[in-house]
Amino acid sequence: MGKSITYKILEEHLVEGELKEGEEIGIKVDQTLTQDSTGTMVYLQLEAMGIDSIKTDLSVAYIDHNTLQAGFENADDHEFIKSVAAKYGIIFSKSGNGICHQLHLENFGKPGGTLLGSDSHTPTNGGLGMLAIGAGGLDVAVAMASGKYWLKVPKVVNINLKGKLNPWVSAKDIILYILKKLSVKGGVGKIIEYSGDGLKYLSVTDRATITNMGAELGATTSVFPSDEETYRYLKSQGREEDWMELKADDDAKYDEVIDIDLSEITPQVAKPHSPDNVESVENIKDLKIDQVAIGSCTNSSYTDLMKVASILKGKKVHPDVSLCISPGSSRILKMLADNGALAHMIEAGARILECSCGPCIGMGQAPKTDGISVRTFNRNFYGRSGTKSAKVYLVSPETAAASAIKGYLTNPRNLGDDVKINVPEKFDLNDNLFIYPPKDRDKVEVKMGPNIKPFPLNSKLKDTIEGKILLKVDDNITTDHIMPSNAKLLPYRSNIPYLSKFCFSTVDSDFWKRCEKNNGGFIIGGENYGQGSSREHAALVPLYLGIKAVIAKSFARIHKANLINAGILPLEFIDNNDYELVDFEDELQIDNLCQLLVEGKNITVLNKTKGKTFKVRFVGSKRDIDILIKGGYLNYVKSRLGG
Ligand code: F3S
Repeated sequence: MGKSITYKILEEHLVEGELKEGEEIGIKVDQTLTQDSTGTMVYLQLEAMGIDSIKTDLSVAYIDHNTLQAGFENADDHEFIKSVAAKYGIIFSKSGNGICHQLHLENFGKPGGTLLGSDSHTPTNGGLGMLAIGAGGLDVAVAMASGKYWLKVPKVVNINLKGKLNPWVSAKDIILYILKKLSVKGGVGKIIEYSGDGLKYLSVTDRATITNMGAELGATTSVFPSDEETYRYLKSQGREEDWMELKADDDAKYDEVIDIDLSEITPQVAKPHSPDNVESVENIKDLKIDQVAIGSCTNSSYTDLMKVASILKGKKVHPDVSLCISPGSSRILKMLADNGALAHMIEAGARILECSCGPCIGMGQAPKTDGISVRTFNRNFYGRSGTKSAKVYLVSPETAAASAIKGYLTNPRNLGDDVKINVPEKFDLNDNLFIYPPKDRDKVEVKMGPNIKPFPLNSKLKDTIEGKILLKVDDNITTDHIMPSNAKLLPYRSNIPYLSKFCFSTVDSDFWKRCEKNNGGFIIGGENYGQGSSREHAALVPLYLGIKAVIAKSFARIHKANLINAGILPLEFIDNNDYELVDFEDELQIDNLCQLLVEGKNITVLNKTKGKTFKVRFVGSKRDIDILIKGGYLNYVKSRLGG
């Protein structure tokens, strides 16, 4: 049986374990990327590991999310990241340089390589044949310190693209069409690999739009072959030496094969409030719109924006519409300025924003109350635009530009002949917004402004743990309940002592005070404890507050992993009826903990207040137990690195 691209890359990078579906393996990480929103925490974690230099071939710290400097906090974070980057040998990308994934595609991504990024859209670089995976910040810090990443070998699904796209249909319509077919859960536990005759009509940036929104399918990542088109793209970026051919064997083994006929696809739109709530633009009549936002890591390439400029040329943005455009990189912005396309956009009445995530992360351009916003972005979740009552529709750049002119959601086919863009053979290669690490890195001083506090570290697991139940909660507690995140708290993401005062604040505002008074203790939870976003802070803040264990009926997968990483025990009731027998402020004690964990035995909890015992268990791998015993992932890695 032949090999898929995924297996070829994994095999080439395998450092631990056996390459079999479902098995945990360690792989060599060639490159990492961070963005500033997750980056501050990643670099605090890296600092805590006590290494001299990163072990990856290349790591880049991008500033693209919180570029607004309304107070000192974001500016301090950027300065901190810049100084850590210089100290450890990491390339730093200044504010205004562009969006991490677009910049990485242009400057660093390599076919056949591995990339780990602390951003869920890291798979964007799969567009040029890279195995690019989004991960938690701590995993990325560990990858920089050790050069490795551990994952369960996913299933591999082949999407075979046949036929040719019709005029006015582009990459965004393909991925929206796939989302409609497979849903936002369709890619969970899978890597999606593209192939087929249809590939020849897709440029690398088109492919990157598709792999970018593979994240919305829930896929581990998505990957395209590296072919002549990949060579052409890399050459245009002055990097032809980074090219290698990469394709699946003709008889490659896949867990599933899905055929998509490109000629069947029409312009698509994802309606509120989910990227898989998709239908044809032509089916939605008379939807009057208030805002059009073009850009984001999904659709801000040179070709995307040149198409927009051609559509806008000589036209006028509808008086009721605010059109804003954020180019993906300063390189693209300069080229649009040089060739006159920027003038067409401005003349038509567009607002040009800086090269950053901007409205996609809620940094400005929140729609008006009940506003209808048409965006080329990848997510339209409820409230993400910054206005709770707003409705966001996701479309291609062509549909967005056509709609901006008409004032209602418009099928670009109504504009007449399709636009053709000639992509230059050579891009403008100015890289003045990158800062490369200095030679004398040992002289670099890390700059920590007053808003940046050290990363909280746990200590080795004790054989006996005891304390009070400081909170008892019901089923379906989300990471938002545990650690709320909002525009007011976001600037404090690197200040865990400050954030701790908001832990569980929507459930019980005195929780943090009780934790301080009692020197930590236990939390009792119901079913599905920790569901929702993968927010690491929902484990790090309880760690700071001294939480030793959460005993729940069941846990959400990612939060459970985050608790383990923080060295907090996630224990499950063996008999869920015991949930009723424990009360707020009861005193608990667990003995022989380490031994019982290692032996995989049930654990007895003594309720000292009630004079009764009940049984719990830990469900996890041997590695999880090692991590818990060492006092969390950071201590575990430190011990393995000899730090
Ligand atoms: Fe930025 Fe939005 Fe992409 S926040 S990284 S442009 S999903």
